[in-house]
Amino acid sequence: MTILVTGSAGFIGSYVFDLLVSEGHNVYGVDDLSGGFMRNVGDKKRFIKLDLRDRRATARLISKLKPKIIFHLAADAHEGRSQFTPLSASDRNYSAYINLLVPAIKNNLEKMVLVSTMSVYGAGQVPFKERSMPMPESVYGISKHAMERVTVSLAKVYGFKHVIIRPHNVYGPRQNLTDPYRNVIGIFINQLLKGKPFYIYGGKQKRAYSHIDDVVPHLVKAAYLHSCEGGVFNLGSDEAVTLDFLSEEIIRQFFYDEKVPSNLLPRHIPARPFEVKYAYCDHREAKKYIGFEPKISLSSGIKDTIDWARRIGPQKFTYLEDLELDHHLLPETWKKKLY
Ligand SMILES: NC(=O)c1ccc[n+]([C@@H]2O[C@H](COP(=O)([O-])OP(=O)(O)OC[C@H]3O[C@@H](n4cnc5c(N)ncnc54)[C@H](O)[C@@H]3O)[C@@H](O)[C@H]2O)c1
Repeated sequence: MTILVTGSAGFIGSYVFDLLVSEGHNVYGVDDLSGGFMRNVGDKKRFIKLDLRDRRATARLISKLKPKIIFHLAADAHEGRSQFTPLSASDRNYSAYINLLVPAIKNNLEKMVLVSTMSVYGAGQVPFKERSMPMPESVYGISKHAMERVTVSLAKVYGFKHVIIRPHNVYGPRQNLTDPYRNVIGIFINQLLKGKPFYIYGGKQKRAYSHIDDVVPHLVKAAYLHSCEGGVFNLGSDEAVTLDFLSEEIIRQFFYDEKVPSNLLPRHIPARPFEVKYAYCDHREAKKYIGFEPKISLSSGIKDTIDWARRIGPQKFTYLEDLELDHHLLPETWKKKLY
């Protein structure tokens, strides 16, 4: 039975691919390398470079591989940026997914494991519960919610099984350190590696940061449990902390018992006008059906990430030449390319 992992050169997708290989499955991975890296690809013979926005090429590959299970992780996952790059957020999320799903159904797909996001809860009350009604506000959240709905709709008609996973704020080794638009932990660590301070927008916003090793085994487990079929599961840490706390923890783990140089102390700038203040999840369904229990503390997870980042060294941040839409309230670090 063939399994396909999309986004397999990306952060989470590469771990999903590796875990499936280690369990002895016949797995292939695809990615267009827009946000992923060949260094994340464990088995290069089972990797296919493919842009899922290319409908014909995607259909050709799917009719060749005929995957029975697909773990779909390929995405433009820039929630905060998606209001300024709505074309990319729609094309790389909803449209690319339909390009994949239609030939997969034609070729007898048995199960879709759709990796969605907590951003679908948008304007909902924290902690976001799996059974709450999604109220996405960002273009990213809206596209992901549409992907969830179209999965449920087509599964009902064509009879394939599905599981929807909503991870949140995942971090750890292999995350993209070159991206100035997302992954706050990666941005902060990369700046310190460069010997430069990082910027904190506001600081009172709360998130629950989730180590990759707590997320991926449960994501893969959910795919194999009959009891999870048709379900929606939040995956991530229960420990919501402020951005200020996170920044102190990164500084503590980075400098350990050395004195922090005053030029590397974080710089506070006004909160971003479009940023949600509180966003974290309840994991009731994931605990009940998958046995989800996050184990990695924020301090040990950050230490692990810093150790890895030191091994690969400081990375150059890569900005888009232009955003699709400009706005006078664009975050300072993007507008002025401060990193
Ligand atoms: N990291 C998180 O905190 C987080 C939280 C919630 C949800 N998610 C979801 O998890 C999944 C993986 O996220 P990640 O953090 O590993 O991001 P990532 O950017 O590292 O991985 C996404 C991968 O998709 C690839 N990709 C993008 N467009 C593509 C296309 N058109 N065709 C083929 N490949 C394409 C990119 O090159 C990248 O390697 C995404 O679906 C994301 O929405 C992530």
